[in-house]
This record gives sequence, C-alpha cells and structure tokens, in this order.
Amino acid sequence: MTERSDGIVLFGATGDLARKKLFPALHQLAVQDVLPEVVVGVGRSEWTVEQLIDHARDGIEQFGNGVDEAAFERLVGALRYVSGDYGAGTTYAGIADALGASERPLLYLAIPPSLFGTVIAGLATQGLHESGRLVIEKPFGRDLESARELNRCVLQRFDESAVFRIDHYLGKEEVLDLLVFRFANLLFEPAWNRHYIDSVQITMAEDFGVEGRGGFYDEVGALRDVVQNHLLQVLVLVAMDPPVDESAEALRNEKVKVLSAMPALGPESIVRGQYDGYLDEEGVAEDSDVETYVALEARIDSWRWAGVPFHIRAGKQLATTATEVLVEFKQPPRLFFAQSETEPPHPNHLLFRLKPGERVSLSVQIKQPGEALHSRPVELVYDYDEQREGPRAEAYARLLDSALDGDQRLFARADGVEQAWRIVGPVLEDRPPVVRYPVGSWGPTEADALIAANGGWHCPQVNTDEVDTDEVDADEVDTGEVDADA
Ligand code: BG6
Repeated sequence: MTERSDGIVLFGATGDLARKKLFPALHQLAVQDVLPEVVVGVGRSEWTVEQLIDHARDGIEQFGNGVDEAAFERLVGALRYVSGDYGAGTTYAGIADALGASERPLLYLAIPPSLFGTVIAGLATQGLHESGRLVIEKPFGRDLESARELNRCVLQRFDESAVFRIDHYLGKEEVLDLLVFRFANLLFEPAWNRHYIDSVQITMAEDFGVEGRGGFYDEVGALRDVVQNHLLQVLVLVAMDPPVDESAEALRNEKVKVLSAMPALGPESIVRGQYDGYLDEEGVAEDSDVETYVALEARIDSWRWAGVPFHIRAGKQLATTATEVLVEFKQPPRLFFAQSETEPPHPNHLLFRLKPGERVSLSVQIKQPGEALHSRPVELVYDYDEQREGPRAEAYARLLDSALDGDQRLFARADGVEQAWRIVGPVLEDRPPVVRYPVGSWGPTEADALIAANGGWHCPQVNTDEVDTDEVDADEVDTGEVDADA
C-alpha cells in the first residue's frame, strides 16, 4: 500500500492530545498544502462542528507556531464532526458517510488503549480496516503481556504494514539528526564499538514535576513513561548497525536486533527515585511508590557492544531540562602529554545535546599553548539551531505526514515494542524501593554507584537563555492526557 491516504479520521478529537498536538499538526499540513480533503473528528461529546473548530483554533494558537488564516480555512473546510458512542454501529456509519469519497483514510486513535478493541471492531463493520491505515499512540501496553494482547487485537484486523505506532521521539528533528550523523559519516564507524567506546550515557532531565498529570503519572512512572519507549529508541539509534537500505523494514530490522541482544534488566541494575513533594501532587496515591526518577545500566550482548555499559537516567524535578547522549571513548593506551600523572586528560567524547539548543560536540585534546608539551581538551561544536532556517519541523506534523504516505520508517514495529517491554519487564515486577530526592537536585546519590567505574554521571550544563520554552512545555503529551471524552 503506497498511495497517500486521502482522508483522516481522528478519534478523540475533543480531547487534550488533539488540541495540543494533533490540530497544530493538521494546521501545519494545511500550511504545506498537503492536508487531505476530509478530516473527520470523532468524539463522545455532543459538539457541533463549530465547537470543534474553536477547540482546534485554541490548540493551534496556544501550542502551534501561530495561525495562518488561509491554512486554517483549508482545515475548517475539511473538518467534519461525528459524535457518538464508540460501541454503537451508527457512529461508524456516520464516519463512513462523513468520509464521502475518501477511499484510503488514516484512522488515528487518540483514545485510551482500553477502547482500541471496540473501535477497531466498529471500523471493521464499515470495511475501513481493509482500506485504512491505523495510527495508535503510546502507551502500547503496560507490560509485555498487555503489549502482546494489544498487538493481537490490532493485527487481527489490520496488516502490520498498515499500523503506525507513534513514539513522538522518532519524529523529532534532533533524534533524526542523530541517525543521519551516525550513518552519513564514515569517520566514526570504525571506532563505534567495544574496542574504542568505554560507555554511553543518556540523560533526560526535566526541571518540572507531573504538572497536573498526577493521576496518569502515578499509574505509570518514569520507566513506563519515557524509558521503555523514548530512551530505548534513542539508545537503539546510537547502537544499531547500518541498515542494508533506507526502507522501513531494513531500519526496523536493525533496531529490533539491538533490542533482542539486550538482556532484561535486573533489580541490581536500577535505582528508582521519587522527588520530595510528589505524594502531595493531585491524583497521586498518598503511599505511592511510583518512581519519578530512574537510573539504570543496560547492556547489549552483541559482538559490537559486549562489555560496554549504556547508562540511562531520566527524572522529573531535576536541576535542569535537558536531553543528552554522551559517547565516552577509551583512554589512549599510553598518556604522553598529561599535565599531571594523577589527573590524566579526559578521553575523547561525542556529546549529542538533543534539547534544548540542539548541538553535537566532539571533545579532542590539543596542545596547551606555551612552552610545555601538555595537552588540553577543546570542544568542536556544531550548533544545529544556529544554522536552521525557519522553525524546527514539529514531530507530530512530520509523523502524520509520514503516516499519510504509508511510510513506516518513523514508527515502532510490533516486535520492537514487545522487546522493549521484555527488557524493562522484570524491574516493573521486582522493583527496588524508591529513594527520595530533593527538588532541583540531580536525583538520588545512590545512582552514582551504578556509574562510578565509568567516570560518573555527566550533568548537562544548560545556559538558560538557550531554553526554548515552547519545546519544553508543549511536547509532553500522550494518551494519558486524553480526557475521558476522547
Ligand atoms: C512524554 C511523557 O511522552 O514525553 C512526559 O509522557 C515527558 O512525561 C515527555 O515530559 C517529554 O517529551 P519531550 O518531547 O518534551 O522531550
């Protein structure tokens, strides 16, 4: 199936995800003049189409890059609204009717996964599973068993080639830049392995808490919220072998290979933390032991990576907001130009700052100016943002556009999702107790032991002027936030 989808059906159109992410993305597609002619919003609220239009405008104004009136008119011209119970046949008859001449709609489920089965069965009553493409949002299950069940439910009606599992990290410009950096340069590839790389660190720090999402977050925790999906995806991009070609299957085969080579995490390889005051957040159980911070050491048992630790750290209410990947190379075998024997020069590293202020920097040693034959480190920096013309492409617009094209390169495959759950599964079950940490810190000091042999945690240094507040605030949406109506 390679033809572009000619319509969109958006389940959960009256919800939060639609307002904050999907309408701004649809507006962006209208700006680029690639929006299909018909967009059918579906929700349980008895709204008029005018109410839906207000909801869309509100989202675009608050969370998009400003309203382009001509593009907004195109969106309004395409928009229909069908309200009804997701279990009622009439709802699907209404959708088919509203789709008019559209033959290959994109069916977007911005609704809680518990409703997927009902909606998919409803779509099938109109034959939409045969012609449509299905987009589903994270979370893809809560553990391996529920992810398998979800995949079974989806794949009963839809072919895998028509299923698009959204992890918004895969649509981010900066994450794609990492992929290109890896495979468009020959220079690093010969050293990209256990012989030259000492360790890899991935940090995703956020200097804010659960921000009104306590009810959702308390069911999830950091491991399920960002590690099983976003950060394992980033790890995979760092670790994967070159794909045989640029196709979705080739790319995803290599990604799944990395995940398949990762042993499941054990309780000794993880530290869980909870920020002071979390228990007072609205929606959080008073005795909750859900982690708002997690640090872990993962391994990849492959020829390329055996013995190299991959450290992942993610947390809320930390000292700053930054996402970084640090690739630490090994020391040269002999240290000739050290300033002192007790303080050897820091080995080379490559640092990918994904957020804020995207950049890549390579630290190398050069000769210290002056008489002595000593080395000192300098950073060779490329700042993507300085070179960027116009705003950064939004992840959701890119993902929607790719899904409309039937291009699965930026989407997770069923086996990849299940592998990721297999890896984190044991520590979801057998979890060490949470350790409290102060707001504004770098998390519990207990996590230092995990990485002591590899030089300690690298704490991102963020110049607050660089923080693009839009990026920080607006991107944190998922189905957990989809309101009950959705
Ligand atoms: C979401 C999580 O998936 O990702 C949030 O649910 C998190 O808790 C967010 O804040 C981070 O995304 P981004 O794009 O802001 O890095």
